[in-house]
Amino acid sequence: MSPAMAITNERSDDDVSPQNHQYLNGVKQLYENGLRRVPNKYIFPASDRPNHNTQHPNLIQLPIIDFSQLKGPNRPRLLHSLSHACEHYGFFQVVNHGIGEDVMRKMMDVCRRFFDLPFEERGKYITTDMEAPVRYGTSFSATKDRVLCWRDFLKLMCHPLPDFLPHWPSSPADLRKLAATYAQETKYLFLTLMEGILESLGIVGEETEELKQLMEDGSHMMMANYYPPCPEPELTLGIPPHSDYGFLTLLLQDQVEGLQIQHQAQWLTVQPLPNTFVVNVGDHLEIFSNGKYKSVVHRVLVNGVKHRISVASLHSLPFSSTVRAWPKLISETNPKKYKDTGFGDFLDYVSTREHKRKDFLDSRKLY
Ligand code: OGA
Ligand code: NI
Repeated sequence: MSPAMAITNERSDDDVSPQNHQYLNGVKQLYENGLRRVPNKYIFPASDRPNHNTQHPNLIQLPIIDFSQLKGPNRPRLLHSLSHACEHYGFFQVVNHGIGEDVMRKMMDVCRRFFDLPFEERGKYITTDMEAPVRYGTSFSATKDRVLCWRDFLKLMCHPLPDFLPHWPSSPADLRKLAATYAQETKYLFLTLMEGILESLGIVGEETEELKQLMEDGSHMMMANYYPPCPEPELTLGIPPHSDYGFLTLLLQDQVEGLQIQHQAQWLTVQPLPNTFVVNVGDHLEIFSNGKYKSVVHRVLVNGVKHRISVASLHSLPFSSTVRAWPKLISETNPKKYKDTGFGDFLDYVSTREHKRKDFLDSRKLY
């Protein structure tokens, strides 16, 4: 522990030089060192700070998609709900999804046990390589972010699983097994939801075969987020406003509130529901649907007392593919909205600046 980190009411300075590891080691370390003030490096400009009203948060009731109804006579009605949710909310919650309660609980539990490991063990996976099969870190990029956010993360590449599994953390000993099961089951959920979403866009039959194959071979990564309690939650954020890059993100979260979405110009809190996935449209689906389905800006608040864990599964086409508007969805009245976009375009963009709000997607706009 550096002298600056001793328990103190002083706000520590902004030294993030490589010699000073106090921030690179993440917010769990800061929290465990008994910090009473948030260091300057974590303080967001006043305009970006949450207006904390945790006593009476503005809640949003997200559309609920009953996955079990996708099969059977109610499919058309369900696809209509799905379409409405993707168009007007960019977010929905999936219930009756068929993934066992134990699979979800064990995934959360093993992530919690990973973050509980001594720092030396977690720290083995620290890398600045965005494409590493496993990456442990804090904020987005601890060395580059102007303001750091209050989260540590473990990112696991998942597809193809046999290539990546041997690189995943060897401790806790059951992490690979539990996370692999979780990855396989959520991949199936993603593929089935996408099939419904394609149908809701009028993309059916033979023309979907190639797309479905691409989705099956598609990129899949899991991001386990850890948000320790924060001494001054009104000054910082767990994750600042952003949209997700892929087609869909499936979010598993514990029972602690934190996720907020921007809806009709307001920040609204998503109340966690047990055994439910929060699913959101990413930039790639917005490009693919030629703007019909919207990726939505969201952020994460932290709080003064509770730890929070979430696992976001991000799915898209293979990293080598180009995402483009589906030709049938382009018309004279709805001309092509976005440039064809490869994963490389996204990496180039985020490697030169911070990913904020929908800046990346905006940069791909044709008009
Ligand atoms: C993300 C994200 C939300 C959450 O990882 O991209 O938005 O609740 N996470 O942790
Ligand atoms: Ni996100």
